[in-house]
Amino acid sequence: MTRFDVEFGPITIDNIEHLRRINGASFPIVYNQAYYKDLLDQDDASQLNQFAYYKGQIVGAICAVLQDIAAAGEQHVYIRTLAVLAAYRGRGIGSQLMERLLHYCEQRSSVTELSLHVQISNDDAIDFYTEKFQFTKGELVQNYYRRVDPPHCYRLYRIIRKGNSNA
Ligand code: ACO
Repeated sequence: MTRFDVEFGPITIDNIEHLRRINGASFPIVYNQAYYKDLLDQDDASQLNQFAYYKGQIVGAICAVLQDIAAAGEQHVYIRTLAVLAAYRGRGIGSQLMERLLHYCEQRSSVTELSLHVQISNDDAIDFYTEKFQFTKGELVQNYYRRVDPPHCYRLYRIIRKGNSNA
């Protein structure tokens, strides 16, 4: 399928409704107000939360948070959500959002790991992360989700650089 080259833009208080729409259409989980507020109230929020635009329309989004690993003096980046509207999937848009976040991680020398949780039944997403982006399948976490079936997830992670927290 033809790749759709996208442009990027930050997620802000003024356009966050589009994120609710994309997440609502893509996930079986409903995220609450606090979830969206937390995304914006953090260092580097405008780089960690990005929309993908195709022909001026918002078609995908990636949202991540920086986590301090205090004992190691390092940071991890945790992907909270990555979604592309169904009509635009398989066109390289999710990959472009992921490549942008990886670039951010590589540029920020304190970041040693990128990770996420994914429902065990989400084969497309697991393949996307492990085959296309070389994430490692970590532990299975039982009953991670409260209202979805199956409720279990895998933790997927990718080492960005060696550090004390992942030596
Ligand atoms: N069928 C088969 N393979 C696929 C599909 C599909 N529907 N979608 C993606 N892939 C694979 C392909 O192998 C492709 O590789 P290629 O570039 O060599 O052809 C690779 O994944 C990359 O595909 P993209 O087109 O870049 O990915 P896309 O834009 O479709 O986005 C995403 C992938 C974000 C997982 C999308 O499928 C989606 O929004 N799914 C619903 C939401 C979701 O499950 N998100 C992840 C949950 S985990 C979390 O959010 C932390």
